[in-house]
Amino acid sequence: MTQITLVEGDITEQQVDVVVNAANTSLLGGGGVDGAIHRKGGPEILAACRELRASHYGKGLPVGRAVATTAGRLPARWVVHTVGPVHRAEDYEERAGLLASCHRESLRLAVELGARTVAFPAISTGVYQWPVEDAARIALTAVAEVLEEAPGELEEVRFVLFGRAAYETFEQVRSALGQRS
Ligand code: APR
Repeated sequence: MTQITLVEGDITEQQVDVVVNAANTSLLGGGGVDGAIHRKGGPEILAACRELRASHYGKGLPVGRAVATTAGRLPARWVVHTVGPVHRAEDYEERAGLLASCHRESLRLAVELGARTVAFPAISTGVYQWPVEDAARIALTAVAEVLEEAPGELEEVRFVLFGRAAYETFEQVRSALGQRS
């Protein structure tokens, strides 16, 4: 049975097989999680991202999709880069579907890579302004659905929340969803 766990901390310090990056379409780095992963992971990650841009993703990585690179100097084996949707009232449903897709696609790729443990940040809840509570509901629901379809493929899916407030919000949403804590 795969464990869904919540921790408060820095995703670049997680000793897991896959660290999921809240990237942008360019795949060329940014602030927040993206900045931390490239800063701590080192230039190998950016070099691998540039390679992806030069080969399969000439126009960049579309929102909701995921690609994998080396994790460089991070205590992980791979970084799975995914692009979250920017929060906007218009076409909310479509955007919420894309946020769910970020989680489904990242987990699908992690399983394909043979990963057993995956760490997610709170995708889209920073620069992309998605309210944490709604993002938590979408993320935890999407992950639970994937794990129901593929039980046993993964040992742990860990949400790494930056700060107490985000951690508590995820904790509240998870119990409201009736997910085991
Ligand atoms: N570890 C875990 N979580 C972190 C870390 C970290 N080291 N740094 C930031 N966070 C949290 C933020 O507090 C926020 O809750 O990750 C969440 C996602 O925030 P962003 O990193 O801003 O990601 P997002 O909202 O998806 O916006 C993506 O921001 O950094 C740029 O290049 C990125 O353009 C892209 C956009």
